[in-house]
Amino acid sequence: MTSTKEDIEISYSLSNEFFELWLDKNMHYTSAFYEYEGQSLEDAQEAKSRALYDYAELNATKTVLDIGCGWGSNLDYIHRRGIKEAHGVTLSSEQAKWTSDRNLPNVKVFENDYALHKPEQPYDALVSIEMVDHVVSPAQANQGLAVELYRKYFNNCAALVKPGGLFAFQSILRNRVPRNRKDLEDLKFTADVIFPGGLNARLEELVMAVNPSWEIIEMRTQRVHYGKTTAEWLRRLQMHEAKIRETWGDQVYIDYERYLVTCVKAFANHWSSDVRMKLRNIVIGNDPL
Ligand SMILES: C[S@@+](CC[C@H](N)C(=O)[O-])C[C@H]1O[C@@H](n2cnc3c(N)ncnc32)[C@H](O)[C@@H]1O
Repeated sequence: MTSTKEDIEISYSLSNEFFELWLDKNMHYTSAFYEYEGQSLEDAQEAKSRALYDYAELNATKTVLDIGCGWGSNLDYIHRRGIKEAHGVTLSSEQAKWTSDRNLPNVKVFENDYALHKPEQPYDALVSIEMVDHVVSPAQANQGLAVELYRKYFNNCAALVKPGGLFAFQSILRNRVPRNRKDLEDLKFTADVIFPGGLNARLEELVMAVNPSWEIIEMRTQRVHYGKTTAEWLRRLQMHEAKIRETWGDQVYIDYERYLVTCVKAFANHWSSDVRMKLRNIVIGNDPL
């Protein structure tokens, strides 16, 4: 099983007000891209969206789909920078509502499974920021199905874009395995309680799975950037400890603090990383320069 609608509601629909307390102002729930020392989380999130917009080679004449669009933060950036039409899909009802309440011209959100999304026309380009961690469950990975399921995801995505279209893709990654039991328990807690049904991909699984639909044009890892992002989320969460305990209860605070402390440690110790890829849909004999 991949993350079901119920799993997704657990991860993202607890309360928009809760996430507003510790994410950046635009509500990105993925790694920012820090360009210089001392850059704010807000600016670094804009830099992430800028890099992905450039990877997808978007402009005011293009159409794009943001797969797993969260609260619409990246759609908001795309709209400000210029787009003919931008669509987003999310499985979370709270996120879909938030995104549609932004009332962005030329932007539409669909509360739907990306695999069931049937656009009238294929898009010029795709963006997906850390949605692929909901595509393979730990049980499926244990059965050796990970590459096959990621490939199915990449093939499904290819069907949504025009031949030769670009895909700006970002994914959290799992890397080394911690050696001590407490650390293993913390990682398992994060997966089971905060992101049920989800699993972070290995870079080599993604590299295998993009074939035969996509060519990797450019790729960069950004482990340190996610470490900084989660450290800032943790700092903001801790600043609001009293309000969170009072409004959502002690357990919510305890769980989210444990999850974010684990993330900071995971990026520092190379248990987790993050990757950004520029992918081009493969059409043999039709390659632009
Ligand atoms: C970690 S959040 C990232 C959100 C957003 N991209 C961002 O950068 O803030 C993962 C997103 O993937 C969405 N998602 C997970 N599985 C999905 C599916 N099968 N179809 C559509 N969206 C999905 C979730 O609803 C959520 O919006």
